[in-house]
Amino acid sequence: SLTTLLIILAAYLMGSVPFGYLLARLWKGIDIRQYGSGNIGTTNVWRTLGKGPGIIVFCLDVLKGAAAVLLAKQTGQTDLVVLAAAVAAMAGHSWPVWLGFKGGKIIATGAGAVLAIAPKALLLCLLVWLLTLALSRYVSLASIMAAITIPVWMAVLNYSKYYLLFAVLVAALAIFKHRSNIKRLMAGTEFKVGQKKS
Ligand code: G3P
Repeated sequence: SLTTLLIILAAYLMGSVPFGYLLARLWKGIDIRQYGSGNIGTTNVWRTLGKGPGIIVFCLDVLKGAAAVLLAKQTGQTDLVVLAAAVAAMAGHSWPVWLGFKGGKIIATGAGAVLAIAPKALLLCLLVWLLTLALSRYVSLASIMAAITIPVWMAVLNYSKYYLLFAVLVAALAIFKHRSNIKRLMAGTEFKVGQKKS
């Protein structure tokens, strides 16, 4: 229906607000895409501008992901439309029309969306993320590990096949968006937490 289409479009637009880019530009006067990994997300904002800006971007990106899902939920959409809104928000963050479709890696936005869909699954992902980060000091590896375990947690928590399909899609998108990180991880040149930016 038209309502469904409008909700999906609204979810995309919410996801497409590039908070990391905007904060760096408006507050610090820099183009975050020229620094560190070149990403517009929490990790690169934290790496480049510090903890405060990093936390702010994280909260705003989580919120936009959650808000897109809640919009679909609050207007009484079916599970399928709610999941589609979550995907749309992640697509908005990944491919924002405002930045020539070059956006972020969906970890914070995806966390917000999954939080609003399956909070227990997100909690388990968070544990995977923290454990991987503690052991490896690579944020990107922690993010990839957290993302690829979403389908496992969805299955363990007995979510239906649409949710499993959604989880597989999120994992695939996260891996795809981290392909430059994967190359760096394999080359041994990936940024580590606590290491100076190069
Ligand atoms: O959340 C993104 C993170 O997994 C990697 O960020 O800037 O190191 O590519 P970055």
